[in-house]
Amino acid sequence: MERLKSFTHINIDLVDEENANELLHAQAHVWNHIFSFINSWSLKCAIQLGIPDTIHSYGKPMTLSHLISSLPLLHQNKTPHVYRLMRILVHSGFFSIQKTNVNNDGEEEEEEEGYVLTDASKLLLKDNPLSVTPFLMAVLDPILTKPWNHLSNWFKNDDLTPFETSHGMAFWEYGGQDSKLNDFFNDAMASDARLVTKVVIDKGKGVFEGLDSMVDVGGGTGTVAKAIADAFPNMECTVFDLPHVVADLKGTKNLKYVGGNMFEAIPPSDAILLKWILRDWSDEESVKMLKKCKEAIANKGKNGKVIIMDMMMENKKGDEESIETQLFFDMMMMILVTGKERTEKEWAKLFYDAGFNNHSITPILGLRSLIEVYP
Ligand SMILES: C[S@@+](CC[C@H](N)C(=O)[O-])C[C@H]1O[C@@H](n2cnc3c(N)ncnc32)[C@H](O)[C@@H]1O
Repeated sequence: MERLKSFTHINIDLVDEENANELLHAQAHVWNHIFSFINSWSLKCAIQLGIPDTIHSYGKPMTLSHLISSLPLLHQNKTPHVYRLMRILVHSGFFSIQKTNVNNDGEEEEEEEGYVLTDASKLLLKDNPLSVTPFLMAVLDPILTKPWNHLSNWFKNDDLTPFETSHGMAFWEYGGQDSKLNDFFNDAMASDARLVTKVVIDKGKGVFEGLDSMVDVGGGTGTVAKAIADAFPNMECTVFDLPHVVADLKGTKNLKYVGGNMFEAIPPSDAILLKWILRDWSDEESVKMLKKCKEAIANKGKNGKVIIMDMMMENKKGDEESIETQLFFDMMMMILVTGKERTEKEWAKLFYDAGFNNHSITPILGLRSLIEVYP
């Protein structure tokens, strides 16, 4: 009773005229954060129903009724709800509404509203070579979302990652045992690699020119290395990754696949490429791996380098939206693996601790940077 009285007292104090507005803002802020997962799941649902591709194939603004009749798998009782799904996705910028004039068989012109794609939903089309759909489907797969339920437990136990708390083993180990995770994760990585590779090769041409050999360590199924091998036909390229990732993959004239563990030994080479690798590992693990890279360069006997493509936290160019993206990625690294996103200072410390003398940074795309590190 005492407790109830004190709550009533607080409520009355809070809702006086002066602070009612602040209270409403605060409440909206909390609600929007409680519900922000709805943006992700609505988007995933639209992709699973094939909505972006359906609107794209239609080729002009698509009315709701056309959209509904073009989604053959919908149960008839559910069709009235498509409008609600589309409404939130229009609000979140994935579709927009265009008005067009239609002439019904010579009768008076009528205005009709139809859905069109936005730049964001064009990036979700199945046949777009830069599609980020595989990345979305991976991040929102139950294997990757389950560990979020264990985050607060993880803060109280001694597991290395919430993924381990949730699945009983490390992320990379799970990938070796479950071909579903291995496949969708490799597809997700390849989709990101396609998006950045062209920019990297154009902007960073000088970075690769003159190299006789390069090993893409943790190169996945080889999207980046293949593009580099094609752009530089005189360079011997190797994709080095865990045995289950490169098993059965066929190389080309100047590209080969090698399975192994980067913490044990890396094939000797003029240059080592690490794209989206060090962010997966703690500082101690990253220093250990960078030392292996140094050995691999030294074994080749030339003045080689390590080329890193990764994010730079607090990148000066970052706007509010991209700062949030970095924070999201950093949290994801904490949930799935032992890694983190790093600031320029944190990167420099890694290189110094691993015994490298010099490095240079080139911003390439949004938050991403290309870092060349020299022994
Ligand atoms: C985040 S993915 C990056 C893939 C690719 N570099 C890209 O950006 O598209 C990390 C890669 O590191 C590989 N990996 C993890 N542990 C490894 C190890 N001990 N030795 C070699 N590769 C490893 C994974 O299999 C995966 O392909």
